[in-house]
Amino acid sequence: METASTMKAKIAELRERKAKASLGGGQDKLDKQHKGGKLSARERIALFFDADSFQESGLFANQRCVDFGMAGKESPADGVITGIGTVDGRHVNVASQDFTVFGGSAGEVHCAKIMDSMRISLRTGKPFVFFNDSGGARIQEGVYSLAGYGKVFYTNTQLSGVVPQISLICGPCAGGAAYSPALTDFIIMTRQAQMFITGPQVIKQVTGEDITAEALGGAGSQIDRSGVAHFVAENDEHAIGICKRLLSFLPNNNTEDPPVLGGSYSLEADYALDEVIPEDSKKPYDIRDVITKILDFNDFLESQETFAPNIVVGFGRITGLTVGIIANQPKVYAGVLDIDASDKAAGFVRFCNAFNIPIITLVDTPGYLPGVDQEHRGIIRHGAKLLFAYSAATVPKITVILRKAYGGAYVAMCSKDLDADCVFAWPTAEIAVMGAEGAAEIVFRREIEAAEDKADARAKFAKAYRDKFSSPYVAAAARFVDDVIEPNQTRIHIAKTLERLTTKRTLRPAKKHGLIPL
Ligand code: HXC
Repeated sequence: METASTMKAKIAELRERKAKASLGGGQDKLDKQHKGGKLSARERIALFFDADSFQESGLFANQRCVDFGMAGKESPADGVITGIGTVDGRHVNVASQDFTVFGGSAGEVHCAKIMDSMRISLRTGKPFVFFNDSGGARIQEGVYSLAGYGKVFYTNTQLSGVVPQISLICGPCAGGAAYSPALTDFIIMTRQAQMFITGPQVIKQVTGEDITAEALGGAGSQIDRSGVAHFVAENDEHAIGICKRLLSFLPNNNTEDPPVLGGSYSLEADYALDEVIPEDSKKPYDIRDVITKILDFNDFLESQETFAPNIVVGFGRITGLTVGIIANQPKVYAGVLDIDASDKAAGFVRFCNAFNIPIITLVDTPGYLPGVDQEHRGIIRHGAKLLFAYSAATVPKITVILRKAYGGAYVAMCSKDLDADCVFAWPTAEIAVMGAEGAAEIVFRREIEAAEDKADARAKFAKAYRDKFSSPYVAAAARFVDDVIEPNQTRIHIAKTLERLTTKRTLRPAKKHGLIPL
């Protein structure tokens, strides 16, 4: 009897301790969090995971700093909730910073908890998701908090390419702390969040520039301008929805294939695709009209939508199989490849290759962007990233040339010579070193200068060049193109090719790692 009542008391104490610790920094701070339009760390977890699936680890963790008035202070869960739960039935490890506890700041114990969660991801081959909402390194803990972050960065790097890592930025993410998300694969940022290495005050002191925190590191800046973040969300709920959708396309780790969405899929001609390319070959169109028509249920999850919009990248499925799409966007700068587009596409190719996601490349580009600014900022180095990423990729690579494929950009957009498994071309494909007018101007300069009617001569030579190269048949004769297909058949051809490439095995020379131009 006595034992039972002792146990009852112990359980009551345990429940009380758990309830108290689960309140984090207390109701006042929770209210403040809600007033700022943000969910709490625990509410984010509850919304993210399947009901009752979350198993927490480290609720009773506490800080142990004795300096600057910290001695004996309680820091429930030390400001970060960690554990594992299921999302659509699949296990995911999580760390969720609790801003109500010392502003979610990261000390020694806090960082150790994050690392533990990451290590479990690594050992079990399950994705890692990190909700960031923090004032950064815990100031009172000095070098211990810096070392903690250093270890988080190191562990991020260990996980890189082994399990998918996704960061959600739901509040401040300041200072070196921003480098953990930067080392992960995707960053989803809410409109309530900011990321920067040095805040407005420091910038004002050092450079004299005046800028608000929002203009400096809000979602607008870090998505549209810098390309640091990949997705913008209106709020926490929206961010969590994006994260779940993104996870649905991804495998658990690099040794698995992405999940296959069961169901019956139509493989029929889509005659709307025959109408996409305008009569006037200089006219733009929206490449998304093509992308959505070749994907199951027209479902496309676009990444970095507003950064380097001259190239479009994202995930979709074809007959239930996840594919990564990389497509020039003729609607923006004619789909030219520039520094940012090369970085964006190369990064996406690397991710797909690391996680066994076949790559579909849609080509309509007039080439790499000419210009002093691009040359001086290193388009040679950045453009080379795309060549490297495609060449190094061993996943199935299927390329469709829709219209222009000029110059280096033809090669870079996963041509046969970069080891594409299959290259299709629409009858409208123009595969040449450059546009016919430009080519005529260089090759026949003397003849044009000598001609009485220069415009007529220019047009004549341009036509001769266009007649020779501005079709897919020269490339097809040389087997740089496997088949010229009717646009309406594109989805069918890609689906059949994907099916036969599922057993693809490719070896690359053994080495520690390649040296992608950085
Ligand atoms: C300890 C911190 C903290 C920090 C915030 N708090 N940041 N405690 N270390 N880094 C505490 C505050 O004292 C406060 O405690 C509570 O968290 C909430 O903070 P507020 O300032 O009241 O909130 P808010 O007005 O919303 O401002 C949030 C903020 C601001 C913008 C994040 O707190 C801030 O600027 N903090 C410092 C940011 C920073 O410079 N961090 C260091 C980055 S360097 P009370 O008790 O009042 O509730 C870094 C290096 C990493 O991270 C290096 C890795 C190699």
